[in-house]
Formats: sequence, structure tokens, C-alpha cells
Amino acid sequence: MNQPTLPAEIAVAIVNPKAYAEWDDLHEKFAWARANMPLGIAENDQFSPFWALTRHADILAVSRNNARFSSAVRSSILLSHEGEMMAKAITPNNDGHLARSLLQMDAPDHMKYRLLTQSWFMPKNLRTIEARIREIARDTVEKMLAMGGECDFAKDVAAYYPLHVIMCILGIPPEDEPRMLMLTQQLFGAEDPEINRARAEIVSAEQAIQMLQFVIADFETYFAAITADRRAHPRDDLATVIATGTINGAPIPDREANGYYMIVATAGHDTTSASTAGAIMELARNPALFARYRDGTTDTAGLIEEAVRWTTPVQQFMRTATEDCELGGQWIHKGDRLMLCYPSGNRDEAVFDDPFTFNPDRTPNNQIAFGFGGHVCLGQHLARMEMRILMEELLPRLKSIELAGEPARVESALVGGLKRLPIRFEVN
Ligand code: HEM
Repeated sequence: MNQPTLPAEIAVAIVNPKAYAEWDDLHEKFAWARANMPLGIAENDQFSPFWALTRHADILAVSRNNARFSSAVRSSILLSHEGEMMAKAITPNNDGHLARSLLQMDAPDHMKYRLLTQSWFMPKNLRTIEARIREIARDTVEKMLAMGGECDFAKDVAAYYPLHVIMCILGIPPEDEPRMLMLTQQLFGAEDPEINRARAEIVSAEQAIQMLQFVIADFETYFAAITADRRAHPRDDLATVIATGTINGAPIPDREANGYYMIVATAGHDTTSASTAGAIMELARNPALFARYRDGTTDTAGLIEEAVRWTTPVQQFMRTATEDCELGGQWIHKGDRLMLCYPSGNRDEAVFDDPFTFNPDRTPNNQIAFGFGGHVCLGQHLARMEMRILMEELLPRLKSIELAGEPARVESALVGGLKRLPIRFEVN
């Protein structure tokens, strides 16, 4: 069988952080791939070839079968060929995982580790912290309203709110939050010269890996002290659940504890802030939509679900095939790499009517921004709840809202979203 090879401009774009800042252009490429080559091989100089999955159905099929499509055999985060070699050389057992969290685990470890915190993230437990989250939302809203009718919503509001929530849940003191925000942005926005640690274009894999190593080392230093503290003085926070967790009857190993803190501390804020900012952008662009929600009585569930689909903050995760198999009409070989292109799945015409229209009334809204199957986002209920509470606290306070400048997206092929959203607003 002839191997379907994606046109070079698509293969290059889907790994290029800058392409994710040019969202509309990128979506045209994804639309072409869905229509013409939904499972296409992406070949380019820096990355070993991989299958790009652009259709909703194929992303679901792979996400549901974690035995056949591994998150652990090779990194579930896309690394360049050279970067992967270097990561292998410097990681324990040469496994290539710069940090080891749920995202880099398969059975049986994955479920053992996931179960440590899973009940914490379920709606029943989240209800017990709803009042605390509402306090953070109110405080966030007051600060925004005090800005005098104009702000950069992405930078001044959305970037901080989910961070405060996660830090509060983890039990990290407020004075350490700026450090956590900086480290997360450096981790996810490593390619964006406005955000990364070097404040410069990254030109080599060596530089990229080195920068990530420094960021991870900073996280490790910080969290080692947290582990020691919570083991000595357990508290009612998520850090205590992780620090005192046991795996196979023994305390959670240091590497995995650090991976756990890092994933909880980082996965939950840039992502949730991207969807929150995306929702506000659509309300600012569309006065009729804003009018529908501004009195605070309309249920925001549809708005939030659509904002998550619309923004799809996680741009991709990788899997590695553990056996030969057929997928979507193609023959996949053991060891092949597959990229789950979530933004494309969430614009799939076969699943969503009019996918390029923001429509809070979609029922059902089968968006896959949180992934699917065994690795489905652990924080999905928290993310929705945070967004709902912020909308409940913010929208009734506003008389009007509009864009006050051009929004801009971050250059990142991993977690994307708005880095600038200038808005003008009137307060009730
Ligand atoms: C809009 C917000 C969010 C989006 C779009 C999002 C997206 C995702 C996606 C796509 C995955 C699947 C990874 C895979 O299949 O390999 C994932 C996993 C995960 N997310 Fe989220 N996430 C969001 C918010 C959060 C929040 C608030 C937290 C909580 C702290 C969180 C924690 C996690 C964790 C721990 C995993 C790993 C789960 C596992 O591998 O078992 N996320 N997320």
C-alpha cells in the first residue's frame, strides 16, 4: 500500500509553534487534511516521521486504546529527533521522559497513580471547595473592574485566575504564585521568544532541552521542600494527598511525586485561562451573545463547553503504536508515532455542524479538547467549574464589553491560546 504523505507545508506547520499563533491559516491546513488525508504521514527534517490524525473519530479510536497506543514507550509530548536523543541520554533508565507524570505512563502504573488523586477531582469533592473558588473569582473580578474600563483580559485576568485556584488547591502560598506562573509559561511556551526563559528564539534542540531541564530542575527544588513539609505536617490540600500517597505499599517515589505536582500545577492554568479568554473574546465580539448572558441568569454550561471546543488549548499529544494494526483505513506498524491533533478534531465537519461558528447551543457538544479514554483530563470538571463561577461573578457586573485592539496568540505547538486580549468594558 502506498503511504499517504502530507504536503510539506502541512507537515512543517503542524510542528511549528509560530503556525499555532496563525490559527486561521493552520485550520485551513487541518481542513485540507481532514478532507484529503485524515491519516497522513508528516515528514520533516527535525522530527522523526509520524502519523498526523486530524479526524475526530481517529483521535477517539486511538485515545480509547491505551494498550495499543502507548503514552510511555516514547514521549507523549512531541520532541524533535535530536531533542528525543538528548532526553534519552539524560533521563533515568534512558526513558526519555524529562519529567514522569500521568501523561507519560501506561498500565499498570498509570491507573495506580491516577487513583491517588482521582476522587479529589470529581464533582462531589469539588463542591466542597466551590466557596473558595468563588472567593478567588470575586477577587479577580474586583481587580479587573478597578482597572478603569480597559484591560488586557488574557494577561491581566485570565492568566491569574486559574493559577490562584490551582495554587489554592495544591496548598501553595500566594507569594509563590508568580514563580509558578513563570515556570509554567516557560514550560509550555518554551518556543515563544516573548515568554521563554532565554527571552530569545530557540535555534537548537540542545538549547531547547537545556532550557526545559532548568525549568524542571526549578520545579523539583521547589516541590522537594513541599513534599518534606507535607510529610511532616499533613494538611487539607492536594499536595498532602500526593506527598503522603503510597504506590505498591511504599511512599510515592520522588521523581513521580515531582511529576505529579508539576502536571497538576501546570496542566490546569494556561489551559483554563486560554478557554476563559476565548469565551470573553467571543462575548466581546458579539453584543447579542453578551446580552444573552449578562444578567447572570442564563445557564453558562453551553457557553463554556463551546469555548473549550473553540479554543482547544492543548494542541496535540503523541502516542506510539505497540503493535501492527489497522486504523482509519491505514496500516500502522509497531513503533509508529501518532499525533492527536485536537484542534482539528474539534473542527471536524463530520461531527460538528458549522464547525467554524461559535455556537453555545450545540447539543450534544462532543468536543475532545479534554482528550478521551484512560488519559482523559483529570481536571476537566475543575476547569468547567472555574469558568462557570468566573462567568457568574463577572458578567452581571458588566454593562458592555468590546475588543479594544487586536488579540494575539501565543507561539506554542503544545498549549496554545491568547496571550493578548485588549478589551474595553463598562461597569453596571
Ligand atoms: C480547558 C482546560 C483544560 C484542557 C483543554 C485540558 C486538556 C487535557 C488533555 C487533552 C489531556 C489528555 C492527555 C492525553 O490524552 O494524553 C489532559 C490530561 C490531564 N489534565 Fe487537563 N486540561 C485542562 C485543564 C486541566 C486542569 C484544570 C487540571 C487540573 C489541575 C488538569 C490536569 C490534567 C491531568 C493531571 C492530566 C493527565 C491525565 C492522565 O494522563 O491520566 N487539566 N488535559
